[in-house]
Amino acid sequence: MDGWVLGLESTAHTLSFGAVRSDGSTLPAAIDAIRPREGGIHPREAADHHRDVAQSLLSNLLERHGLSMSDLAGVAYSQGPGMGPCLQVGAGIARALSAAHDVPLIGVNHCVAHIEIGRWECDCDDPVLLYVSGGNTQVITRLAGKYRVLGETLDIGIGNMLDKFARKFGHPFPGGPVIEQHASAYIEANPNASLKGLELPYAVRGMDMAFSGLMTAAVAMVHRGVPFDAVCWSLQEHAFAACVEVAERAMAHAGKHELLLGGGVACNQRLRNMCDTMAVEREGTSHAPPRMYCIDNGTMIAQLGWLELNAGRTTPYHASAVDPGLRTDATPIVW
Ligand code: ATP
Ligand code: FE2
Repeated sequence: MDGWVLGLESTAHTLSFGAVRSDGSTLPAAIDAIRPREGGIHPREAADHHRDVAQSLLSNLLERHGLSMSDLAGVAYSQGPGMGPCLQVGAGIARALSAAHDVPLIGVNHCVAHIEIGRWECDCDDPVLLYVSGGNTQVITRLAGKYRVLGETLDIGIGNMLDKFARKFGHPFPGGPVIEQHASAYIEANPNASLKGLELPYAVRGMDMAFSGLMTAAVAMVHRGVPFDAVCWSLQEHAFAACVEVAERAMAHAGKHELLLGGGVACNQRLRNMCDTMAVEREGTSHAPPRMYCIDNGTMIAQLGWLELNAGRTTPYHASAVDPGLRTDATPIVW
């Protein structure tokens, strides 16, 4: 294939344009996320944000990497899952660019893109993915031609749980990094800390997880007077242990030896360390892509688009509608 592939990410709070060159090399994305002054993300407001910043973000990407629209080979966009109004803005821009430059349109699965960018960047072959983001918490692996979800959250995503907990105590979105700082401060000051007296509910439900009870109990713990740093540490230990436990069981059941992290919460160093420990104990390996490819980014969309385009799969205009509820296992692996 000649030319480069553009990727457009717009599933939730982030609008991002990324690119992949014809040989598959990935280029860092231009990213802009809405930061609500208070409260959570309103889909309409996020969609308006995306529309407002789209043109300048795209110019930014082209300038930064010296790309020209005349060399474009295809336009990939997130078809789902995500917030309807946000997805529609991205799909609208992608359709317009594809028509204007007469190149194929490729609608891709956002969750699968998190997996493929990780496989590509970390050079792993057949991993179990621990996909931990704001809206999603899933343990996924490839079985019989599709990525199958072996375990997932039954209520909210782990990132949403961290964000909500942080917001209750005045820290705006994204709360995950703030909690990580407080937890690190606690463990540095108390290197022999134990969870005794800081117990929170067990979040594992069979192969699934549930996080809202954990959050409620952590909020109550702060209200009882336990220091905020200590609660942040305990919350991370409990929530991450649940994810690692399910991921370990998935590796054992599916007979896989590689663990791959993806999603915004995979930026967390403590989670990365816990995954390393587990993988080493199983005589396997744990991998995490660079942080810029853990969070939502256009490059992962371009990369999956590039794979699909090379395999001959494109999205005709009549099939380009967005699907807010698109499942990870709905996408056949054609590449
Ligand atoms: P998806 O659409 O896949 O659900 P998302 O819209 O939630 O993704 P991401 O960019 O993948 O977006 O993830 C954002 C989440 O990652 C937020 O909940 C944020 O708090 C969390 N996060 C980011 N950095 C860290 C960190 N260092 N520790 C813990 N959580 C983090
Ligand atoms: Fe995501």
